[in-house]
Amino acid sequence: MASKLQFFLLLSISCASLQITLAGDPDILTDFIPPPSPIAGPLGGNYFTFTGMRALVNAPFPEAFKVTKAAMAEFPALNGQSVSYAVLQFPNGTVNPPHTHPRASELLFVLMGSLEVGFVDTTNKLFSQTLQQGDIFVFPKGLVHFQFNSDASNPALALSAFGSANAGTVSVPNSVFNTTIDDQVLALSFKTDVPTIQKIKSGLSG
Ligand SMILES: *[C@@H]1O[C@H](CO)[C@@H](O)[C@H](O)[C@H]1NC(C)=O
Ligand SMILES: *[C@@H]1O[C@H](CO)[C@@H](O)[C@H](O)[C@H]1NC(C)=O
Repeated sequence: MASKLQFFLLLSISCASLQITLAGDPDILTDFIPPPSPIAGPLGGNYFTFTGMRALVNAPFPEAFKVTKAAMAEFPALNGQSVSYAVLQFPNGTVNPPHTHPRASELLFVLMGSLEVGFVDTTNKLFSQTLQQGDIFVFPKGLVHFQFNSDASNPALALSAFGSANAGTVSVPNSVFNTTIDDQVLALSFKTDVPTIQKIKSGLSG
């Protein structure tokens, strides 16, 4: 009887700690984390304001897919707050190639245009959807996902929120084919030959 109780106790403790690890970045023991380097004068609202997105207002739409981030690196006040943003701009016919965010789930909000999106779970099942302006889609933490503006003549704009101040991005094409992993290793892994691997690599290394 006692051991059964102990088992359930252990189980509930491990479930609780699992919930803590899934909640986001580690909790901090202060109200916020002050600037990493000393600043002139007292700390004020400026530190908690990110103006980097102003550059997008009234700017011409980019010619290639573009991400503009407001994460810990750009906006140090996010350190310890478990949140960040990215603005995604898709000219007609452009893709955000398959990638993962190791430290966060992503909540994507289509502000303009439409997007084909999808993620692949750990059993290789694809979950895809066509999103229109106003739609919100969630990409579960750590899973491979993509977005594609299949519209041949209209751009698309989306805002993504992340459950981490530093979600991180692992690009599948880059992490596999744009490193110094030996061509032989890749040829064997993809059940193909070295020239095929080199051809794929040359397209990314430009
Ligand atoms: C995007 O639109 C431009 C101008 O309408 C067109 O020339 C171009 O082919 C389109 N690109 C794609 C990938 O559909
Ligand atoms: C491949 O890696 C190089 C060096 O890190 C980088 O400059 C380039 O943009 C990468 N290619 C792509 C397609 O991202």
